[in-house]
Amino acid sequence: MQKTKIEKIKAIQILDSRGNPTIETTVMLTCGATGKAQVPSGASTGKFEAYEKRDGEDAYLGKGVIDACRCVNTEINDLLKNKNAEDQFEIDLLMCRHDGTENKSRLGANAILSVSIAAAKAVSNAYGIPLYRYLGGKNARTLPIPLLNIINGGAHADNGLDIQEFMICPVGAKSFTGAMRMSMEIYGNLKSILREDELSISVGDEGGFAPQFQDAEEALQYIVRAIEFAGYKPGKDVFIALDIAASEWQNNDGYLLPKSKKEYSTQDLIDYYKALIQKYPIISIEDPLHEEDFEGFSAIRQQTGIQIVGDDLFVTNPKRLKIGIEKRAANAILVKPNQIGTLSETLTAIEMAKSAGMSAILSHRSGDTPDTAIADIAVATNCNQIKSGAPARGERIAKYNRLIAIENEIGSGGIYGNLLH
Ligand code: PGA
Ligand code: ZN
Repeated sequence: MQKTKIEKIKAIQILDSRGNPTIETTVMLTCGATGKAQVPSGASTGKFEAYEKRDGEDAYLGKGVIDACRCVNTEINDLLKNKNAEDQFEIDLLMCRHDGTENKSRLGANAILSVSIAAAKAVSNAYGIPLYRYLGGKNARTLPIPLLNIINGGAHADNGLDIQEFMICPVGAKSFTGAMRMSMEIYGNLKSILREDELSISVGDEGGFAPQFQDAEEALQYIVRAIEFAGYKPGKDVFIALDIAASEWQNNDGYLLPKSKKEYSTQDLIDYYKALIQKYPIISIEDPLHEEDFEGFSAIRQQTGIQIVGDDLFVTNPKRLKIGIEKRAANAILVKPNQIGTLSETLTAIEMAKSAGMSAILSHRSGDTPDTAIADIAVATNCNQIKSGAPARGERIAKYNRLIAIENEIGSGGIYGNLLH
């Protein structure tokens, strides 16, 4: 009997870190092994993302996923019963074909992704090997550099900051565990100085602080001070990465920052970033411009020379990434499995990016769960970087703790990632 044949698939509705409904799916194999996956959900979602199916009725404020669970328990269960869960690309393709839409809107990308990842976990459990080893083989041994979002703004916090994420990037660490030590110390120092200055230490969706700063520069100055207070050198041991999430700012031909009400043309915005890069140790900017401006991304990449990351621009979609590679729009892609809706398309996007000499950054969503699949995918693909929020909040820490555990498991064979750009 084939060990990894699918016996049954069962989805239930659970809640994510924002308290919104999401899907937890269990794939059961004939050998008795099971795999479980919980799906995250974004707030500043890109308009080209695969479709997240929600009930839209009064119950659960319209956010229920009961129907998506029903799709898993009926149609997808019937479709995949007796299929070999090891044939990841085939089962993903079968689900996509059965859905029949371009953006997975009939069954829901949340429904499809939950099955896709649970199937991979079930196989890894059936063979008694960790997920990163199952997906990546013996070569899977790079621990990613974490990008930790320690100050939250934009759609993730109700403070006055227009920029969504201010992250620290501990490139100078010798190991992932060492990177988390540095990050914890910087985060703790930031907390102390905010408290001393009577600023709020309550946290936003991704665990970063969300005080009422005047502007982005004030946030950057606090981060630089926190790095120094922790005993590290900004621009050597630790850099800063930003996620602008600029699609949220798009307004007619230009940009209107929703909180400060400032207006910018594309070139003004590029000049603003260049000025920030001159003054602060910024090594990476994600979504500096809106999600359709491939040309603008390309200009900013050339003019700044730092890491320019496409999130809403690419939405983990190999087709959009192909355009981006042709136009040399960015030198890194943010990888969120739920933007595209299957594990195989996620792996394809990573592979494509790496073959084009780009970096791939595995990423959580602002609404997340304790699921740690992205940590294993990051190691499996040797992808060098991961972002999973601040060193705070259980659903964020779960991914970092998983990476600490993997680093211990791999032992001296492990390598701590490096930045390509
Ligand atoms: P989201 O934000 O999960 O709310 O989309 C994360 C990001 O923009 O990177
Ligand atoms: Zn983003």
